[in-house]
Amino acid sequence: MVKICCIGAGYVGGPTMAVIALKCPSIQVVVVDISVSRITAWNSEQLPIYEPGLEDIVKQCRGKNLFFSTDVEKNVAEADIIFVSVNTPTKTQGLGAGRAADLTYWESAARMIADVSTSNKIVVEKSTVPVKTAEAIEKILSFNSKGINYQILSNPEFLAEGTAIQDLFNPDRVLIGGKETPDGQKAIQTLKDVYAHWVPEDRIITTNLWSAELSKLAANAFLAQRISSVNAMSALCEATGADVSQVSHAVGKDTRIGSKFLNASVGFGGSCFQKDILNLVYICECNGLPEVANYWKQVIKVNDYQKKRFVNRVVSSMFNTVSGKKIAILGFAFKKDTGDTRETPAIDVCKELLRDRARLSIYDPQVTMDQIQRDLSMDKFDWDHPVHLQPVSPGTVKKVSIVWDAYEAARDAHAICILTEWDEFKTLDYQRIFDNMQKPAFVFDGRNIVNVRKLREIGFIVYSIGKPLDPWIKDMPAVA
Ligand code: NAD
Ligand code: UDX
Repeated sequence: MVKICCIGAGYVGGPTMAVIALKCPSIQVVVVDISVSRITAWNSEQLPIYEPGLEDIVKQCRGKNLFFSTDVEKNVAEADIIFVSVNTPTKTQGLGAGRAADLTYWESAARMIADVSTSNKIVVEKSTVPVKTAEAIEKILSFNSKGINYQILSNPEFLAEGTAIQDLFNPDRVLIGGKETPDGQKAIQTLKDVYAHWVPEDRIITTNLWSAELSKLAANAFLAQRISSVNAMSALCEATGADVSQVSHAVGKDTRIGSKFLNASVGFGGSCFQKDILNLVYICECNGLPEVANYWKQVIKVNDYQKKRFVNRVVSSMFNTVSGKKIAILGFAFKKDTGDTRETPAIDVCKELLRDRARLSIYDPQVTMDQIQRDLSMDKFDWDHPVHLQPVSPGTVKKVSIVWDAYEAARDAHAICILTEWDEFKTLDYQRIFDNMQKPAFVFDGRNIVNVRKLREIGFIVYSIGKPLDPWIKDMPAVA
């Protein structure tokens, strides 16, 4: 029986290994982590992450060929294939701070593999890493090899949160990079055989190591670039009276462009896009390519501009002050169908509104009070460095209340900001909400999910990203 061990039981390690276990009953899969609380949760009824479809799979496989353990060393020692799926956050200190990937967690995993291994291993990079990381890892492993043969493969993960299970069941492609030597090709074939249990062969692409590593950064940069492009257009739409949804529909109809990933929003979030683009920028700079670095940097700049622009709209529309006003925040996760808040635009929007002395009442169906308090009290980039995190006590961030119902959040509020596109926000009883709000009542839709015409009929003043402006908002001072 082939034995797989995955180091890192997070958003990637957990779902990916659960699907491998489901699709490959002949393979034993153990997911290990240094976080005792995460492993305890994976072994409980309340999984540590919310992902549609995940719970069913874990329940089917757990205890049969899928195990979660804190015994990292034993399980690594016994495995034939080791996936490394630890976090690779942006460095917060030292050389490359604010851009380069912090490989501390990766390096410590590699050193541990070298320490405990007594048999040949295939080590698979599942984390998103800078180009040439495989080379560095190989050095660590081979300098400590004790005669063991290590083959390093790059197998970046392309799943998106909220649709992880669907993405893993039916991937556009599986990418495997390895060495062009006979041993490298043999290792590629071994990993291919795992995926071949359910992925059609023509969707499994093999490349050299560096192409695989770079393809992952490139894919995320391209996706984020589309969002920044449409968001840049949304600003122009508001200035000219065009409607961004109509523009993206017309543009996306061109089969060379395609219709996906053209939804204007308050900005993209999530643990990957910003981090991976910053990493790409850093790699370009280190390779003497400042023009290329600046091109990609602009994707992040436009994203920051979009978040700032949204807050400016809120404040300027409300007579240039939100001081002491209650604002309901609907949605805090970085997208729907996840409880993940890493780099969610809601953090920046809420922090800016708090700086302008607003009172916030926040509701998200999947994010806990503790998480929201933590996010609002944390410095940029600290979120992915567990060692920096201190426990927070409820009420740490003053002027914020966290409630468990959208109607409660909006009661007596002057305005509503929709920051996540949860389906339930589309079908709220907006008449009831309007009746219980201060007047004039504002809706600022950062996800373009409400029916603007209907809400205006009820009496709301509505701002929707990139849509023709409400006459009220048009008459207010222009945003910077
Ligand atoms: P995560 O923070 O959810 O999980 C990482 C886990 O690794 C944590 O539970 C942490 O405790 C554990 N860990 C860290 N060092 C360890 C060590 N030495 N030994 C054992 N466990 C250790 O992160 P994630 O979202 O799963 O992302 C993991 C990697 O996958 C990152 O490089 C990320 O860029 C990449 N990725 C993420 C996504 C996504 O949607 N989240 C998608 C594709 C790729
Ligand atoms: C992304 C990539 O899609 C995935 O392939 C990679 O493996 C990890 O990073 P993820 O961050 O989980 O996945 O979600 P994604 O669906 O890409 O959304 C990222 C952000 O962009 C979200 O905040 C989302 O709301 C926003 N977005 C997405 C838009 O604002 N407009 C769009 O049209 C699409």
